[in-house]
Amino acid sequence: MCGIFGYVGKSAEPDFIIKNLKKIDYRGYDSAGLSVINYGQIKTVKSVGRVDKLTQKVGDLKPSLTGIGHTRWATHGEPSDINSHPHLSSNSKIAIVHNGIIENYKKLKSDLIKKGYQFVSQTDSEVIANLVASYYKENDFIEAVKKAVADLEGSYAVAVINQDQPEQIVAFASQSPLILGLADDFKLLSSDVISIVKYTDQVHYMNENELAVLTKDKVEIVDIKTNQTIDYKVDKLTQTAEAAELGQFADFTSKEIYSEPAVIKTILDQYQEGDDLNLAFSKNFNKIVISACGTAYHAGLIGKHYLENVANIPVSVELASEFNYKKVFIDDQTLFIAISQSGETRDTLNAMLKAKQIGAECLALVNVIGSQIARKADYVVYTLAGTEVGVASTKAYLSQTLSLLLIAQKLAGKSPVKDVSKLPDQIKQVLRTEDQVKKLASQIAKQNVVFFTGRGVDLNTADEAALKLKELSYINTFAIGSGELKHGTIALIDQKTTAIAILTQPNIVEKTLSNLKEINARDGKIIIVTNLDHDFSDLTSDVIKIPKVDPYLAPILSIIPLQLLAYHTAKLLDRDVDKPRNLAKAVTVE
Ligand code: AGP
Repeated sequence: MCGIFGYVGKSAEPDFIIKNLKKIDYRGYDSAGLSVINYGQIKTVKSVGRVDKLTQKVGDLKPSLTGIGHTRWATHGEPSDINSHPHLSSNSKIAIVHNGIIENYKKLKSDLIKKGYQFVSQTDSEVIANLVASYYKENDFIEAVKKAVADLEGSYAVAVINQDQPEQIVAFASQSPLILGLADDFKLLSSDVISIVKYTDQVHYMNENELAVLTKDKVEIVDIKTNQTIDYKVDKLTQTAEAAELGQFADFTSKEIYSEPAVIKTILDQYQEGDDLNLAFSKNFNKIVISACGTAYHAGLIGKHYLENVANIPVSVELASEFNYKKVFIDDQTLFIAISQSGETRDTLNAMLKAKQIGAECLALVNVIGSQIARKADYVVYTLAGTEVGVASTKAYLSQTLSLLLIAQKLAGKSPVKDVSKLPDQIKQVLRTEDQVKKLASQIAKQNVVFFTGRGVDLNTADEAALKLKELSYINTFAIGSGELKHGTIALIDQKTTAIAILTQPNIVEKTLSNLKEINARDGKIIIVTNLDHDFSDLTSDVIKIPKVDPYLAPILSIIPLQLLAYHTAKLLDRDVDKPRNLAKAVTVE
C-alpha cells in the first residue's frame, strides 16, 4: 500500500510534490520518487528510503506544470532505487505511479518482452508504463490508457503522464483509493485527502471503471465500460489541514493519544449516547458478525462484549483475512459490521463484500470519510477521530470502542451505562499517569519476557496493548487469559519476566488475583492497571490507577496507559514511533 500524489496546471517546484508526499508517507516508506516534465521531457528522481531523500536529488529539476510522486510499501521487489516509482516506459516517454497489485503482471510482462519492451525493475507496476506505450503506438493517448486498463487484473490506483501532453495527467482506480482535488486553477490527485485539503475542499472520490483526464481548468471523467463522459459527484471535505501538522507535539502518535479527550467528546456530542446514530435498520437481526484486522479487530472483541451484554444479540468476531477463505454462517438476518480506521483495508473490504453477497446487511464503522468500505456498505457510522497519521492506531481504537457501545445501545433501545459524559475528563485524568508510565517503560525495555494478561473484556484490552508494544517497540510480547497461564505459558516466568495485568471488572477480579499470585510465586514482576479499590501491595507496588467508571467504560480508559507505555518504551529504544519498520497505515493488499 503506497501513496500516490499528482498535480497539473500550476507551475510548481519539485518540492511541492515532496511536501505533499510527506503527508501521505505513512502509507509506505520503503522508497519514494517523482517525475516532472521539463522542456518536453520526463525527468525523474527516486530513492530508496524516506521522502526526504528526494530533496537531495532534485538538484537541476525545473518547476513544472505537471508532476507525479510516489511513496512505497514494497510488495514486489525489495526496497531499492530501481524498484522505486515512478516507472517509465522503455522509451522514457511515459511515467506512471501505482498503488495496489497487478496480479497478472507476469503474463503481461512476458508478452511485452516478446514485443521488444525492456524492463529494469522487479515490480509488478512497471508493466503499466510499457503496456500504455504499446497501445500508444496505434491509438491516441487516452485510448491507449483505456486499452491498457482493460488488460489489468488486481487492485490499482494509477496516475500516468506523457511527455507529448505535458499539461495533462490521466488517472484510474480499481479497489484502491484515489481522490481528485478540484482547485480552481490547478488539479490534484492523491491517495488521501490529507495532501489535498490545504488547497481545496472540493474533491471527487474515484470509482471503479472511471478514467479521469486532469488538465489545468477541468477534470473529465469517462466510464471505461460505456465510453460515456460521466457527470461525476463532487464532495466537500470536512477535514482540516491542521490534521497534517504536528503543532507542539514531537510526533503524531503522542499528538493523537493526547487528542483522545476531544475525540471522545466529539462522538458523545455528535451521537448523543447513540440516539443520533443515523442507523435506521430495516429489520431486527438475530446475529451479528464483526470482521476487521489488527487494532480494529481488537475493538471488535470489545464490541462483542457490548453487543451481547447490552443488546443481547449473539456476536462472532472474525479476522477478516481468515473470514475470506472459510465457511461462514451468515444469512439475511445477520448484521455484518466491518470495522476499519482507514476504510481501505483490503481484507476487511473483501470480508464485507463476501457477507453482502451472502445476504447480510453491512454496517461500516470507519474513520476515513468517503473511503471504500464506507461507500460500499448499507449503513455507515463514522468514528469522527479525525485524520490518524501515526501508523499505530490509538485515538481511532478508542473511538471505535465507544462507537460500538453506542451502536449496542441503539440496537437495545436503552443505555444501561452511567456517566458516559464524564469520559473526556476521565481520559485527561488517565493521561496524567504519563510520568509513572514513563518510569515503567525503562523497566519494560530491559525485560526478557513481557506479556499482558486479564480476564473477560480485560483480556481484549491486553490483546490490543500487546499489539501496541509489538508494533511500536519491536519487543516480542503477547496477551494471554489469566486463567490460561497455568496451562503452559507459566513456564516462561522467572525474575526477568514482567506481567502487565488489567483488572477493571469487579465480577472476576478475585479470579485474576489468584492467577497473579501464581506469577508472583515464580518471581515474575507484575504491573497492574486498575480502577478497583483493592490492596495489591502483596503483589506489586507498580499500580497504575485509572478513574472509577462503569465497568462497560473501563476498556476505553484502561488501554490509554498501555498506549503510553508502548510509546515511551519505543522512544527509549529510539524507534520511529510514527512509522514503525515494515508497517503502513492502510493495508490495501491481501
Ligand atoms: C494498528 O495499530 C495497526 N496499524 C494495524 O493493525 C491496523 O489496525 C490494521 O491494519 C487495520 O487497519 P484499519 O483499521 O485501517 O482497517
